[in-house]
Amino acid sequence: MRATSQCRVCAGTVHEFFDFGRQPLSDAFVDRAGAAEEFSFRLATGICASCSMVQLMEEVPREEMFHEDYPYLSSGSAFMREHFGRLAERFRTSELAGPDPFIVELGCNDGIMLKHLADAGIRHLGVEPSGRVARLAALKGINVRNDFFEESTAKSILAAEGRADVIYAANTLCHIPYIASILRGVTTLLAPDGVFVFEDPYFADIVERTSFDQVYDEHFFFFTAQSVQAMAEHHGLELVDVERLPVHGGEVRYTLALPGSRSPAPAVAGLRAEERTWRLSEFETLQRFGARVRENCEELVLLLTRLRDQGKRVVGYGATAKSATVLNYCGIGPDLLAFVCDTSPTKQGKLTPGSHIPVRPPGEFTESYPDYALLLAWNHAEEIMAKEQGFRDAGGKWILYVPEVHVA
Ligand code: SAM
Ligand code: TMP
Ligand code: ZN
Repeated sequence: MRATSQCRVCAGTVHEFFDFGRQPLSDAFVDRAGAAEEFSFRLATGICASCSMVQLMEEVPREEMFHEDYPYLSSGSAFMREHFGRLAERFRTSELAGPDPFIVELGCNDGIMLKHLADAGIRHLGVEPSGRVARLAALKGINVRNDFFEESTAKSILAAEGRADVIYAANTLCHIPYIASILRGVTTLLAPDGVFVFEDPYFADIVERTSFDQVYDEHFFFFTAQSVQAMAEHHGLELVDVERLPVHGGEVRYTLALPGSRSPAPAVAGLRAEERTWRLSEFETLQRFGARVRENCEELVLLLTRLRDQGKRVVGYGATAKSATVLNYCGIGPDLLAFVCDTSPTKQGKLTPGSHIPVRPPGEFTESYPDYALLLAWNHAEEIMAKEQGFRDAGGKWILYVPEVHVA
């Protein structure tokens, strides 16, 4: 019998389809191996038989993940800075073009998006529970509330600021298991003709690209147009637009509104129809995905072991949260990867969670190129490969494991 749990969206039954075993927290970089016992939990994914929402079987308490020392800095990618700059401009000239507009962003992190709207003088508020990144946003002149967004937060924002024309969240909504409270907060705070816009990794892209490392503690939900539409209806909202995005390995930007306030764009029915042809909510599709995950992991370990035995120097590139799943599920440690380089000062000098590989600044990569680099930040491949052209020019080779294991 496969394990079941209760759906956090509709209270239906969630059936498990993949078990990654016990895993550490993906962003809990450690000072020294053995310095303190690392938190671990069972990382497993399931699908709700009623509303089709794909979700984790076990939840990690939010304070374990999002706290003063949360190390992820959104502004580390030039490509993402441009992405959010374009979106801010779109908001400014459309949804926020009326008199005295107001936008609330959940999970504004270091202010990568809101900075543009703050600079343009638009009334805004970022809600960000992680202390250090919230302060980085405040230093950029952004109004930040250092708090978790939930129903009670929405009520107090409403009392202080009035209704929001836009509520926005990027790579944040999928992090929140207590989604019912969030959606009650959204319906409380949203202006009658306002929009709730969020963008997160698209489950169809994860299945298509076998990008299994999108599964980690912080990614609780894996959205599709089907499951988001069901979630919206269940919680008094309507899905009115969808847009596929070429960021973070494939995402969708969903627009929700109060029912009847907007007519749904044709893209909604279009994506729903495509999803039916992909049979995304069928258990066989998910089991085939699981089989590919196991094969890819075996191949990756074989390749890294062979390179080590041949005396090649191999390092990792990008100490992503995603890499915690790959490294720990595959059992890749410092014997196979000498170090992982990463631009985040918050991660440098520490060890990767669970796998205990040293994290070094990118200078160590460029000073003495390895023979191979495992691209753990594969979602930033274009940006990183362009920046590190010198590595290839010096004869270095990239190893990728999405969509399959290959050397490029
Ligand atoms: N929006 C940024 C981006 O796309 O780069 C940051 C994404 S980061 C992966 C997720 C952020 O959500 C973290 O900064 C975390 O502190 C924040 N977060 C987690 N739970 C939250 C909640 N209930 N309300 C608001 N923010 C939350
Ligand atoms: P993400 O995939 O969650 O956005 O995390 C990307 C990680 O990779 C983050 O720790 C920063 C790091 N990184 C680099 O080290 N170099 C780069 O050029 C980019 C874009 C990211
Ligand atoms: Zn459900």
